[in-house]
Amino acid sequence: MSDLFASFDASSLSFADVEPGDGQRWTTWPSTIPTQRGPQPWPAWVVQDAGALDTELGILKTGKEADVFLLERAVPGDPSQRSLLAAKRYRSSEHSSFHRSAVYTEGRTTRNTRDARALAKKSSHGREVAASAWSLAEFEALCRMHQLGAPVPYPVQVNGTEVLMEFIGDASGTAAPRLAQVRSDRGELAGLYAQIVGIMRIFAAAGFAHGDLSAYNLLVHEGRVRVIDLPQIVDLIANPQGMDLLHRDCVNVCDWFTRRRVECDAEELFAELLAASWA
Ligand SMILES: Nc1ncnc2c1ncn2[C@@H]1O[C@H](COP(=O)(O)OP(=O)(O)O)[C@@H](O)[C@H]1O
Ligand SMILES: [Mg+2]
Repeated sequence: MSDLFASFDASSLSFADVEPGDGQRWTTWPSTIPTQRGPQPWPAWVVQDAGALDTELGILKTGKEADVFLLERAVPGDPSQRSLLAAKRYRSSEHSSFHRSAVYTEGRTTRNTRDARALAKKSSHGREVAASAWSLAEFEALCRMHQLGAPVPYPVQVNGTEVLMEFIGDASGTAAPRLAQVRSDRGELAGLYAQIVGIMRIFAAAGFAHGDLSAYNLLVHEGRVRVIDLPQIVDLIANPQGMDLLHRDCVNVCDWFTRRRVECDAEELFAELLAASWA
C-alpha cells in the first residue's frame, strides 16, 4: 500500500483515470457554444482542456438574487492548467427576490413568447427564465465593458443561470476586498476615486450607467479598482429612468468618498458624465 502511494505520480494521470468526486464536475467549457464564451482572444489562463475538472472551493457570498462561489478549473496533474473562477449563480427558487426588476428592464424585450408568458405568470419555468435572463444580461454587460477597456472581471462563460468570471483575489483564493472594507489614507482614497470616475466615464461614453454602483460593487485588488455586479446595467437613452439612475450612481459614490474627506461633487460628476455620453 505505502509502495503504491510512493510510486504515485500525479503528472502521469490521464483523462481516463479521473472521475469527478464530491463537489466536482467536468469542466463546462466544451459544452458551451461560442456566444456563451468570453470575448476573444481568450486570456492564456482560461483553461480550455476538456479533461479539466471544476472543483467547488467554497462560497464567496450569498445574496438575494445570486450566490457567488469560488471555483477551481484545473487539469489534474498539470499545474500549468489551473485557474480560479468566481461562479455567480442566479437563483430561480421562490426565495429569490428580484428587487431590481422593473426599473431596469424597461426598454428590454424577451423574444421568445413562451418565455414571455412564463415570466408574466411567475411559474417555476418563469423563474428559471428570469434567472437565466439575469445571468445572460450580466455576462453580456461584462463582455461589452471588457471590450471597451473597463476593468471588469474577464467573463469566461455563461451557462444557464451561472456566470463564470475571472476571480479577483490572490492565488490562495482570498477575494479582493470591496471598497467598503478598504482602510486607506486620504491620498490613496483620492486615487481610488479617480479610478472610479475613469470607469464611470467609460460606461457613460458607451451610453450606459452601472445602475447599482456602490462601495460594495467595487473591488480593490493590488491598488486597482474593478467594477462588478453588472446585470442591471442601464442604457442611458432607451431606459426612461437612465438619467436618474446615473445620477444616483454619482450620489452613491460621492457620498461615500465625501464621508472619508475626499473632495468630490456629485452634481459636477453627473454633468461631466452626461457630457461624456453626448460626445
Ligand atoms: N469576480 C469576483 N472575484 C472576487 N469576488 C467576487 C467576484 N464577483 C463577486 N465577488 C464577491 O461576491 C460578492 C457579491 O457579488 P455581486 O456580483 O456584487 O453579487 P450581488 O448581486 O449578490 O451583490 C461581491 O461583493 C464580492 O465580494
Ligand atoms: Mg453586489
